[in-house]
Amino acid sequence: MIKAYIEQNKQKFLDELLELLRIPSVSADSRHNADTARCAEAVKASLLAAGCDSAEICPTGGHPIVFGQKIIDPNLPTVLTYGHYDVQPPDPLDLWTSGPFDPVVKDGKIYARGACDDKGQMYMHVKSLEAMIQTNSLPCNIKFIIEGEEEVGSSNLGAFLEANKEKLKADIVLVSDTSMISMDSPSIETGLRGLAYMEVEVTGPNRDLHSGVYGGAVANPITILAKMIASMHDENNHITIPNFYNDVLELNSQERTDLNKAPFNLDDYKKDLQVNEEWGEKGFTTLERTGIRPTLELNGIWGGYTGEGAKTVLPSKAFAKISMRLVPNQKSSEIAKLFEKHFISIAPPSVKVKVTEHHGGEPVVTPTDGEAYKAAALAIEQSFGKKPIPTRGGGSIPIIALFEKILGLKTVLMGFGLDSDNIHSPNEHYGLANYYKGIETIPLFFKNYAQLKTNQ
Ligand code: BES
Ligand code: MN
Ligand code: MN
Repeated sequence: MIKAYIEQNKQKFLDELLELLRIPSVSADSRHNADTARCAEAVKASLLAAGCDSAEICPTGGHPIVFGQKIIDPNLPTVLTYGHYDVQPPDPLDLWTSGPFDPVVKDGKIYARGACDDKGQMYMHVKSLEAMIQTNSLPCNIKFIIEGEEEVGSSNLGAFLEANKEKLKADIVLVSDTSMISMDSPSIETGLRGLAYMEVEVTGPNRDLHSGVYGGAVANPITILAKMIASMHDENNHITIPNFYNDVLELNSQERTDLNKAPFNLDDYKKDLQVNEEWGEKGFTTLERTGIRPTLELNGIWGGYTGEGAKTVLPSKAFAKISMRLVPNQKSSEIAKLFEKHFISIAPPSVKVKVTEHHGGEPVVTPTDGEAYKAAALAIEQSFGKKPIPTRGGGSIPIIALFEKILGLKTVLMGFGLDSDNIHSPNEHYGLANYYKGIETIPLFFKNYAQLKTNQ
């Protein structure tokens, strides 16, 4: 019955998502604050339209949180669905083949910023609720927490969880904001990496200098910064920050063997990215490098003259944004401190350095032995016809660790995106098949979960 309802409402489900994708809810850009607020209103309205008893906009120090719920019986289990309505900036705009906020459907995919991350995936949950309510098959209670600051570090969400423990009372958190291997090899991520994000500033002379008059006699901060950055990986691509690996949980050989059983083809991977050779920490496979090993990445580097033509200048300053992905049991704040100490220690006397910390988040591993994972695995088997493979994801969702720490709740990461969906990149897209499969699979999760919980 649910399947028939979804089939009959496919066009409506698509049109509604496209409407949401037209709102440029870019959380990082304050010029879009009014759009972001408008998007929260649209999410609230969609929750009420889908059949929530109540929905509200909860103001925070930043962008608002949308909360909604449908309680059918307080004695039944409650699923807390988390998602985010904010999106990454669409830049660089000239690489998009259609406008980032003018969604188009092409070759069976929806192209728009947020199509996959996370409006498309979040909206599957809203439409699943509608389908369950319309077919009288909602088997347990549901609460929604849809935030507007995930892409900027969720810095106000922790306080919201602390202040609303009763309201957010639930049995499990369900999230669709991760990827699966492919539609032919469905998978469930059972871990996320943490994050420590730093910005550095290197200052040489007190002002920009003529590179001929002074060049050769005064340290160029760009050269110094480049050398400092280059020294942060050794010849085996290990990170050289002292004590960086101290808390890294090493997997045993059985766990590593299991992890490497997931389908992965290195030639296809290289071909897709048009790189001749993979890169990474010696002694680990590509799946291990992105799943269970920490990394240090440059996200941006600038300084001096970058405009049109040539300008001869020895700049006063150089900058970089550097992030580290973390794995259990590394701690974001400790890694940030180790980075700062090391960065200052390797600076030569010819420059001054300043290190600041941006947002961070802790790594998580989600259980595969509870009812919720079993319910999700069975739901995927029922809708895809194949058992999902557990994988370790490389991305980060900082709030997941806080759901456990503050609310005592475990999470299931039932994501339907693909790594090839270009999230955070031009031409982000989401397969229509993924969207509809998600809407079909989520009600199966609810059914399985309610059954497993009430038979326990
Ligand atoms: N949905 C992503 C995280 C993700 C993507 C996890 C794909 C697994 C697979 C999320 O919106 C995101 O982009 N998170 C940021 C961190 C945040 C603090 C900016 C990230 O991972 O860079
Ligand atoms: Mn996301
Ligand atoms: Mn994202």
